Amino acid sequence: MNLTSTSLAVSGLLILLTAQPADADPLAPTGRWTAPVYHSLKAPPMGWNSWNAFATDIDEKKVMGSAQALVSSGLAGLGYVYVNLDDGWWAKRRAGDARMQVRADAFPSAAEAGPDGTSFKPFVDQLHRMGLKAGIYSDIGRNSCSQVFSPLGSPGLPVGSLAEREVGLFGHVDADIRAYFKDWGFDYIKVDACGLADYSPRQQRVQSGQYRNFEPILFRGRPTLNQNQRIRQLYQEVGAAMAKYRPQQDYVLSICSWGQGDSRQWGKAVGNTWRTSDDLYPKWERMLHAFDSTATRAMYSRVGAWNDPDMLFIGAGDFDLAHLSEARTHFTLWAMVNAPLLIGYDLRQTPKELMDIWSNADVIALDQDPLGNQAVLAYRSNDVNILVKSLTNGRKAVALFNRSSSPFEVTLTAAQLKLTDEAPVTLRDLWSKQDLAPFTGETKLRLAPHESRVFTAQGQRRLPEGLYLSEMTGQINVAEDGISTAEPDPELYRASSWSRTTGPGEWPTYTGWGGAQADASPYSTGLAIGGHDFDYGIGILANSRIEIKSDRKFSTFRAEAGVDNATRDRASSVRFLVYGDGKLLASTRAVKFGDQPVVIEANVLGVLVIELIALRASPRGDAAVAWGNARLISGSPRTL
Ligand code: GLA
Repeated sequence: MNLTSTSLAVSGLLILLTAQPADADPLAPTGRWTAPVYHSLKAPPMGWNSWNAFATDIDEKKVMGSAQALVSSGLAGLGYVYVNLDDGWWAKRRAGDARMQVRADAFPSAAEAGPDGTSFKPFVDQLHRMGLKAGIYSDIGRNSCSQVFSPLGSPGLPVGSLAEREVGLFGHVDADIRAYFKDWGFDYIKVDACGLADYSPRQQRVQSGQYRNFEPILFRGRPTLNQNQRIRQLYQEVGAAMAKYRPQQDYVLSICSWGQGDSRQWGKAVGNTWRTSDDLYPKWERMLHAFDSTATRAMYSRVGAWNDPDMLFIGAGDFDLAHLSEARTHFTLWAMVNAPLLIGYDLRQTPKELMDIWSNADVIALDQDPLGNQAVLAYRSNDVNILVKSLTNGRKAVALFNRSSSPFEVTLTAAQLKLTDEAPVTLRDLWSKQDLAPFTGETKLRLAPHESRVFTAQGQRRLPEGLYLSEMTGQINVAEDGISTAEPDPELYRASSWSRTTGPGEWPTYTGWGGAQADASPYSTGLAIGGHDFDYGIGILANSRIEIKSDRKFSTFRAEAGVDNATRDRASSVRFLVYGDGKLLASTRAVKFGDQPVVIEANVLGVLVIELIALRASPRGDAAVAWGNARLISGSPRTL
């Protein structure tokens, strides 16, 4: 049963207070939005990347050919403007001054004579003249991924002495970022992490003397050994250098530590996109795995900072011309979770069927919606997911995703859309462009195996003059999520890595378990306090602080709060506090596991930033809490 504010027998206290000074608690309110703001980065990056099409075998002809195709096909006009080089562009780090050199044999326009040797400036200038943006690739360690994983003799592997082949950023952040962003004019950098993981003395290519030992600080598959703080700090140095050389912040920092090092937690504070899983490759099961690594992380994404389940693999393997339904599903899901949309296909020869997928402007618009609300899972099972995305002007999109290889009849309810059962709901299919007959309450839709159907939905909002917080995650910064020990997330589809079945199996490896969730507990169960279930709300651990950009648009905050039944810690008691621009507006008494929900309500009129704080009384424990039905009410629906 759903709990509404009117039906609730309130067992808690409602207290409206005047301002109190913040104490020294690290969870103390700051009174402001503390997350980075990138004014020139409004939506997830879209474009093209060389890796899935060419691996290290890249050259100017291939890249420029795809860049030209972006323009001539109209894809650039739809937003695909980044042309990103991946691994394989580099010749070496020049002895003496350590200046990075481009493979001039592959990129003839870089063969500028001059004190800097080669330069990517002409290449980048050309892309800019075409109305495009340019992306480059590096590694956060001394060496890159291809140097350890690509077969010896592959094109695009750096040459020269051992030191000259150390092409990664480690020890060179300032000079390299200056070269890439200030001198050459790149707009985007993807920073990989093999240099932190794969150059131990046990590595065969290190043993043979090809590369210098780098004692790993990132251990694939062993997340408890990862030095998360150190990894984060290294990426932070890159971000700081980018801000220094491009103070207008018109760049993208793409963190590529594959969900390792706890990047699913801190990526939002350090860069603009962060990979949430290991590499996608064109297998259906790998797509499930990558999607799952992002799908529960809506609370960690917002405008300027996006979860990245990896680049598109449309056109290859299980997403090729013979699998267009799967290809459309891949594209739909990536758009729903606000993933970067980076095409990984040789665009010089593109079949129309693939072009039709990438150029579906209605689906692209979901990804690029300016509010930046990643879709929230409204229904979860191993077979079917229903994802609901809150769009500008109170509109909704819903995707029904058949994960299974059997046909499925899916029931979609108005409640899942946060629409009322009383008024009709209209659905417009964004692939077939058909309007469906309106339904009231619920409707049934058939999905073919692996099919996703995606619609915009319109009806009567359950909260006509307000928003549930789970409808505005793009305006929320989870400043502290209460996780004290990074634990791997066990809920992801376990696809066989690289199609091998050696070893004992696929263990969970990406930390972030227990993180904040929209409309679910931190442990991916339905929100529940005492005997009450909540379909809507925020689930988070105690000792957490959430910032909400309310921008003076609302008058009241209201929630029914308590310790969630999914808590591991049944002993601790928790208090809930609401601050507005640094002033305490409301708080509850301490509640514990099994207690009934308490109403907490605050007047937020004129407030710019609301902070929600859940404070645990005891020093230890992992109390999971629910801000049930957490919502902001405004005087006027027009201000939404
Ligand atoms: C890693 C990354 C990939 C790609 C390759 C290049 O595996 O995750 O996306 O950049 O390295 O070597």
